[in-house]
Amino acid sequence: MVSLLDHLRQRLAREGALTVADFMGEALTHPVSGYYMRGDPFGAPSPSGGDFVTAPEISQMFGELLGVWCADTWMRLGQPSPCALVELGPGRGTLLADALRATRQVPGFHDALDVHLVEISPALRERQRESLGAHQVTWLDNVGQIPEGPLLLIANEFFDALPVRQFEQTAEGWAERVVVLGPDGNLAFALAAPSAANRPLIPATLRDAPQGTVVEVCPAALNIAAFLGHRLARQPGAALIVDYGPVKPAPGPTLQALRHHRHHEVLEAPGSADLTAHVDFTSLAQAAANAGCETHGPVRQGGFLRALGIELRAAQLAAAAPGAAEAISAARRRLTDPAEMGDLFKALALTSPGLGAPAGFEAASPQAPGPLSSGGQDR
Ligand SMILES: C[S@@+](CC[C@H](N)C(=O)[O-])C[C@H]1O[C@@H](n2cnc3c(N)ncnc32)[C@H](O)[C@@H]1O
Repeated sequence: MVSLLDHLRQRLAREGALTVADFMGEALTHPVSGYYMRGDPFGAPSPSGGDFVTAPEISQMFGELLGVWCADTWMRLGQPSPCALVELGPGRGTLLADALRATRQVPGFHDALDVHLVEISPALRERQRESLGAHQVTWLDNVGQIPEGPLLLIANEFFDALPVRQFEQTAEGWAERVVVLGPDGNLAFALAAPSAANRPLIPATLRDAPQGTVVEVCPAALNIAAFLGHRLARQPGAALIVDYGPVKPAPGPTLQALRHHRHHEVLEAPGSADLTAHVDFTSLAQAAANAGCETHGPVRQGGFLRALGIELRAAQLAAAAPGAAEAISAARRRLTDPAEMGDLFKALALTSPGLGAPAGFEAASPQAPGPLSSGGQDR
């Protein structure tokens, strides 16, 4: 079997250069050797353990509160039945398992739901099947397959895994950073020729950034946001996107590789480390709003989880299991503390026009369909 590195070398021998997005797409989702296609990368640090931990793997409280958010939004939508509940990139399926357990007593909610998971990795689909046990779920390859009708959609740490292109400001305008074959046969970064066609791709607030500035753009994320914005403008529903990144477009590069919880050289041993980049929430919201939905936030994860009741839930869990009180409190802090995940992670909601601000977004000013200012709170 050809290794992913050799496959990339062969592509580079034929094509000369790959965009950073091409490289990232191959490294994460190559059908045989892509990082997500090979197995389960989640878990605590240990020699044989995972590469990173996500919020639902830190504590059941995260999935439970997002479940409550879904049930509450379903009620605000008028309790439609059937209603598709879709998760993008569900990982181990932990978030949804916790969400469904926490909402099983909401009258009529589960009977109304048609659960769909958008997941590219066969190995993780298998893991999700195990986590979701008795629940009937359907797997989809992409958002285009989401069935028509009322929709509730959640995506935690999905958008940060989508491939980014990188551009660098030069004396002659924006040039795309590409991946090439170095003289030693290893992969290396290089700059393609500057082109005026790159400038409109750069967020407006960064277009005149000084020479040397690197900016990342995620076409796949913008396409999915536009798809959801268009869909929510025409059919009732809401989407909740939680991920990490700044409110306003910020210079990069932020693309990073993680292996066993340690930073790893991005181009070294492709397929063996997780690759992620910061999510540009303003551009995401703008793409969705331009397609006709309303957007709310982004708000910081810490405040969002507090508004949904994480303090109360932590107290309930600690009262039920006093021996675990310290661990529960540590998990709550990790999810909400500004120095941990509380500020860097944000939540953004997309809703059908007229639905109003969903739970946790009441204090954030709603953004009507159409051009969106880059306002909101700063990191
Ligand atoms: C960082 S994990 C997040 C997992 C989960 N949401 C959590 O919070 O634990 C990214 C997830 O998105 C999936 N994924 C990545 N790229 C994808 C794509 N292009 N289409 C569908 N799923 C994708 C991965 O297989 C994985 O399940």
